[in-house]
Amino acid sequence: MEKKWWKTAVIYQIYPKSFQDSNNDGIGDIGGIINRLDYLEELGIDAIWISPIYKSPQVDSGYDISDYQDIDPIFGNMEDMDRLIEECNKRNIRIIMDLVLNHSSDQHRWFQEAKKSKDNPYHDYYIWRDGKEGEVPNEMMAYFGGSAWEWVPELGQYYFHQFTPEQPDLNWHNEKVRQELYQMICWWMDKGIQGFRLDVIDLIAKEPDLCIAENGPKLHEYVRELSRSTFQKKPEIVTVGEAGNTGVESALLFSAQDGSELSMVFQFEHMDMAHKKENQINWVLPFDLLELKEILSKWQVELYGKGWNSLFWDNHDQPRIVSRWDNDPTYREESAKMYAMLLHGMQGTPFIYQGEELGMTNVAFDSITDYRDIAAKNLYDRMLGRGYTKEEAIELIQKDGRDNARTPMQWDKSLHAGFTKGTPWIKENPNYEEINAEDERKDPNSIFHFYRKLIQLRKEYAIFADGKYCLQDKENKESFSYLRSSDTEELYVVCSFVNGCSKVSIPERFLKDGVLLACNYEESLPEQLQPYEGRIYYRKKNAE
Ligand code: GLC
Ligand code: CA
Repeated sequence: MEKKWWKTAVIYQIYPKSFQDSNNDGIGDIGGIINRLDYLEELGIDAIWISPIYKSPQVDSGYDISDYQDIDPIFGNMEDMDRLIEECNKRNIRIIMDLVLNHSSDQHRWFQEAKKSKDNPYHDYYIWRDGKEGEVPNEMMAYFGGSAWEWVPELGQYYFHQFTPEQPDLNWHNEKVRQELYQMICWWMDKGIQGFRLDVIDLIAKEPDLCIAENGPKLHEYVRELSRSTFQKKPEIVTVGEAGNTGVESALLFSAQDGSELSMVFQFEHMDMAHKKENQINWVLPFDLLELKEILSKWQVELYGKGWNSLFWDNHDQPRIVSRWDNDPTYREESAKMYAMLLHGMQGTPFIYQGEELGMTNVAFDSITDYRDIAAKNLYDRMLGRGYTKEEAIELIQKDGRDNARTPMQWDKSLHAGFTKGTPWIKENPNYEEINAEDERKDPNSIFHFYRKLIQLRKEYAIFADGKYCLQDKENKESFSYLRSSDTEELYVVCSFVNGCSKVSIPERFLKDGVLLACNYEESLPEQLQPYEGRIYYRKKNAE
């Protein structure tokens, strides 16, 4: 298999607004990231993916960009960015930027021009249509609710947007748009950026007239052109496309080993296990271990040798894994470590979302006024409009909302969890006195040190990157087990998903001459798992 640095790497996602504030205005910033690089170095990660820090009106928390080549003043300026690149270089931490190429902000210069007149050279940078008998062009809906069409009276036309109206979709069928974006990406590559996460990349080739939003017919053609014109110029660049609607077949194209498209994609089948089936009101559905096994195994098996997986539980759009599936809070530490083992034992590139390495949990604000996410606010209004009570709406947002992941990083026990001395832009989770980085760094048995260890194991043992995956004990409803094997080594990973004891049968050879590389209990029995117990066994095959 071709050796790429990111195949043994672990990537850490920073949500800059909530990571660390350095000037006490209550908003995390680039200076804050720089101040915490030693922490990240101690954790041992190889790269950081930073959610958007470009100039933006912040309607969708930076995913609405008004200038791709400038830094938003809330985060600092370009000198801060250059300093961050320099400081990361010193520590061998690579920087991955978030590229939002599907849409811009309505405040972007291009859109401001585009809406001036139909013959403005920028008009065709976006997607405009006339109405149909005084109505919207068609019934396409935006992801955050409402029609995907927004009326501009001055022009007498509608424009297309898949998220908020302040995020008009770029017209990828216009060659000029694509060339502008490629130039911008090359400019960041020249500055020393070594990777990109591509926001909703499966939406770029939309065909609104055909009501096609996802996976448009020209999607892979565009991604190949993008890759050729930018990323392929530097072999060390890593790229991960967010593709919420992708199946295995398309993911194999995206992550083809010839490097013609991207390095890997984020697919969401294991997180959504239902999401799409409902009308966007019910996201997280009851947990089904057999379904989780089936989905994760399918991706492990199908991409083996042909593509590459990303591995993740958390990001800035998802509830926290230790709270996600009604996990028993009594076993928060055990289950945080168990989830980490299950994921880090697989083939792919693991992503850790800030605070996951501490076992940070969902937050439960009682009132909509404490929430900041536009998607949550829209959902709340929609639910009330459909006759749900306020309590029902809040309950759903507490369980599924994106702000669960966006509360301030819990650094220590001081005011506002050490995130800011000012007033945080969103309230911190009140549990920061029990869950924080300072305590965990001191405690060798903490979740933090457990993650450190898993990151190191991936570097020490080739089997983590190379081994072939095979699901074990498929019908077991209480635990998830799998084998990874190469010609010379093998791993056996077993994870309990129940809060009581459960029976397990671990292959004799691992008990006999295997090494227990990781376990979330100090002592364990060969045939029984304790609540949320997880283990990773390793053995050399020539020991036979
Ligand atoms: C992606 C981002 C999300 C954002 C959306 C629109 O899904 O992860 O945060 O709201 O795209 O850009
Ligand atoms: Ca700040």
